[in-house]
Amino acid sequence: MAANPLNVVAEELPVETGVAKADREKLAGLLNQALAASYVLYAKTHAFHWNVAGPQFYGIHKLTDEQYQDLAAAIDEIAERVRAIGFPAMSGLANYIEASVVDDVDVSEMPGARDMVAQLARDHQAIAAKMREAVSAAEAADDVYSADLLTGRIGVHEEAAWMLNSIVAE
Ligand SMILES: [Fe+2]
Repeated sequence: MAANPLNVVAEELPVETGVAKADREKLAGLLNQALAASYVLYAKTHAFHWNVAGPQFYGIHKLTDEQYQDLAAAIDEIAERVRAIGFPAMSGLANYIEASVVDDVDVSEMPGARDMVAQLARDHQAIAAKMREAVSAAEAADDVYSADLLTGRIGVHEEAAWMLNSIVAE
């Protein structure tokens, strides 16, 4: 125990709920990747929400509002799942960008409205595809709750991709 309780830092905790430590550690890594990608997509969705312009402004502004709010709740849920299986939740914006399957967006490279929507649709699908790998690992390790959490997220990302792709359908 730390000499001063105010100096306690998050580290590995004892967890004995039937999932082997090695499996929990691997899943914590996969959940942290999901956290990183969701965090980057949260920031990017917000950036597009603010900077979108043109005749589709209102619909895209509103849809991205719903989507960044969903992502904000999701990153909290995913990070807390990492803690519940015994490991530290990833932090550091640079670490998120590094671990994310979704690319960040720089204000100097802000795309037009159509490209914003197409990019977000691709990003949601990339996250869903990556999470599918994590679900397989969670199922193999009998971590049913992580599998369930990520399965739910896949459904949300697939629905988001459908809505976004429908806006840019020709
Ligand atoms: Fe807003």
